[in-house]
Amino acid sequence: MVRVLFVCLGNICRSPMAEAVFGAAVASAGLDGKIAADSAGTGHWHLHEPPHPGTRAVLEEHGIVYDHRARLVTRDDLQRFDYIVAMDSDNLADVRALGHARGDVSLLLDHAGDGAPRDVPDPYYTGRFEEVYDLVERGVAGLLRRIRDEHAF
Ligand code: 4NP
Repeated sequence: MVRVLFVCLGNICRSPMAEAVFGAAVASAGLDGKIAADSAGTGHWHLHEPPHPGTRAVLEEHGIVYDHRARLVTRDDLQRFDYIVAMDSDNLADVRALGHARGDVSLLLDHAGDGAPRDVPDPYYTGRFEEVYDLVERGVAGLLRRIRDEHAF
């Protein structure tokens, strides 16, 4: 099983959205038994909470199921996951500061192709959940292509 962890700050807006959108893409590619996704945050404020209402609304609008409670990223995660995918540069720096990761560590929008911004903006502050969804969709599609290439799925 290839394990993918999406990381943001609060683990209630961006990374649970990416986890759910990626999960839907994996399912529609028929790869459910081969690739598993999770998400975690670097900040503790919303531990055990479900995704933010804005994330829930945008996922429901797009017919994407989700099931997640906020948790902190741990040093153990750095050993367990094959791909750790940060939503923005601060999240990436925080993951790197936790320690050495066994797998690949990247920014989601590294996978989004030419012209994409570097960071997924935080909708907790901007309120622009649909804009985030569009970016997440692009990043996730590229990430899944890369994983399929690397593992010959
Ligand atoms: P997220 O957004 O990192 O995309 O989940 C945030 C959620 C909560 C907070 C910050 C960002 N907060 O400061 O509580």
